[in-house]
Amino acid sequence: KERTFIAIKPDGVQRGLIAAIIARFENKGFKLVALKMLWPTKEKAESHYADLATKPFFKGLVAYFSSGPIVAMVWEGKDAIKTGRVLLGATNPAAAVPGTIRGDLAISVGRNICHGSDGPESAVHEIANWFAPEEVSDYPRSLDEWIVSDN
Ligand code: GTP
Ligand code: MG
Repeated sequence: KERTFIAIKPDGVQRGLIAAIIARFENKGFKLVALKMLWPTKEKAESHYADLATKPFFKGLVAYFSSGPIVAMVWEGKDAIKTGRVLLGATNPAAAVPGTIRGDLAISVGRNICHGSDGPESAVHEIANWFAPEEVSDYPRSLDEWIVSDN
């Protein structure tokens, strides 16, 4: 099993897309193991996007990510990181195919409504950046055998 950090950014919250985005992940079969709303400080937004610090859009990105409350989540399941990014769609919603969250619900790269970890290391770093260990619930779900086979 694998875990990924998924966030609904301030524009997704403002636009009333929380339920729609959560439904994509639930319907896919992933298991929600942590969830909270919080308003990121500038400092937390900077550490979250630290690997992009040299990009020209970094200042605007930090301002965007800390412009209002976000919904922070941890989703668990087979290939959750890679498949989670497939559900989100391409970074630039203009290039994201219909059927993906960004492809269906957004049009601008600077307002692309959601975030997903891009690899195992960033997933561990991001989950620890936003959640205390006791905020992540490790629980069994009886339907999991109907979602993933052993092979
Ligand atoms: P995240 O899931 O948010 O990390 O997006 P990503 O992994 O698909 O893309 P990346 O990590 O490269 O960029 C992080 C975020 O920076 C994007 O989701 C956008 O919100 C923003 N961003 C990326 N490229 C641009 C750009 O060229 N212009 C602007 N304004 N924002 C950008
Ligand atoms: Mg990224």
